[in-house]
Amino acid sequence: MEAGFEEKQKHLLSLELLLKITMAVLWLTSVSLLICPSLSCYLCFIKPQVSGRLCVGYVVSATKVNSVDECFRSLDRIFNLNETVVKAGRAAGGLESRLKEILEAEIFPIVKDFQGKRNMDTVYERRLRKAADNFIEAASKLPRDNKCIPPCGFQNIDAAYNCITCQYDSCLFPLDCPVEDIEVKEGRGIQMRCDVPFDLPNDIEVVWKFAEEFKTQETEQFKEVTAGPDRLYSISSTTTEHQGTYQCEIFSGIRSIVRLYFYVTVIPQPVVGHTALQGIFDQALLPRGQFLTAPDAAPHFFLHHRLLFLLTTCLATSLLLLSVSVGFLYWLSVAEVDHPVADSDEEDYFGVSLLEI
Ligand SMILES: *[C@@H]1O[C@H](CO)[C@@H](O)[C@H](O)[C@H]1NC(C)=O
Repeated sequence: MEAGFEEKQKHLLSLELLLKITMAVLWLTSVSLLICPSLSCYLCFIKPQVSGRLCVGYVVSATKVNSVDECFRSLDRIFNLNETVVKAGRAAGGLESRLKEILEAEIFPIVKDFQGKRNMDTVYERRLRKAADNFIEAASKLPRDNKCIPPCGFQNIDAAYNCITCQYDSCLFPLDCPVEDIEVKEGRGIQMRCDVPFDLPNDIEVVWKFAEEFKTQETEQFKEVTAGPDRLYSISSTTTEHQGTYQCEIFSGIRSIVRLYFYVTVIPQPVVGHTALQGIFDQALLPRGQFLTAPDAAPHFFLHHRLLFLLTTCLATSLLLLSVSVGFLYWLSVAEVDHPVADSDEEDYFGVSLLEI
C-alpha cells in the first residue's frame, strides 16, 4: 500500500514537471515568434549595425519625433513581410552572394545619403520601396534552379535560396514515387530496376520489399525481400503469387533517398498443351456432335475415364465368373462319367475333387 502510494506521488510529480517544461517551451516559442517573426532577404544580407545607422534619423511625421523602432517596423513591412521580395530571392545554388550584392547596392546609398540627417517617414518610405522594387527586379533575373527532377526523391542540391531561413532549400519532393504499373503474363519473366533520374551518392544500399497481392504504398504492408547494392530485381517465371506491390528503397548510410513502387499484375495463362490433349480425349468420349470448351473439360474427362474403368472392370468380372461357372459345369459332367460311385458320398467326392484340383 505504502509503496504504491509513493509511486503514485512520484508519477504525479513527474507529470507536473513535464507540464511545467511544456509550458516553458510553449512560452519561449511564442515569445520568440513575437520578437522575431521570421528572417527575410533584408535580414539575411544587411547587418543590424547598418540598419541602425539607416534608422537613426527617422522622424514620424505625425509627432515630429525620432523613432528607430518605427523605422524598423517599416523595414519589416517593406522587405521582411513582403512575399514578392522573398520569392524574388529564391535564386539557384551558389547565388546568395549575388543576392547580397543586389541588396547592398540598394541599401548602402540610402544609408550614405541619410547619414547625419533627419528625414520624414514619407521620405524613408519612398526610398525603401524603390529599393525593394529594384531588388525584386534584379533578383528575379538570377538563374533559378533547374536541377531538381520531379516528382520524387531526396535530391541534395541547393535548389533555391530561402529568405525565411537564410539557407538553401533542397528539392522539396516527397520520398515516395508514384506507383508504376506492370502487367506480365503468367510464366513470363520481369525485371524491375531501382533507377532514378538524378545523381546518387556512391555508398548506396537498395532494399527490396514486397506487399503481396495489393497495390499499396503503406510501409507496414511490406516485407523485406533483399538488401544490397543490387538495383535490379528480376523474376524469371512469374506465377499468380508474384502479384503485388514491389518497393525499392535507396539508402545512403541511414538516410533514405527515394522509394520506388512497382505494382505487378500477373495475367493467368491456361496451360496450352494440356488443354489441347484434353479436348481430344473429351471428344473421343462424348457422343457425336457434342463439344466441350477447354476450361470445364478436365472434370468431364475424369468422370468419363472413371465410368469407363468401372464398366470395364464389371464386364471383365462377369466374363471371368461366366467362364469359371462354365468350366465348373463341364468338369462336373466329366467327373460324373469317370467316377459314378463318388456320387453316392458327397463328402468323399469333394475330398477327391479338391485333391484333383
Ligand atoms: C511587396 O513589395 C512590392 C514592391 O515594393 C509591392 O509592389 C507589393 O505591393 C508588396 N506586396 C505586399 C503584399 O505588400
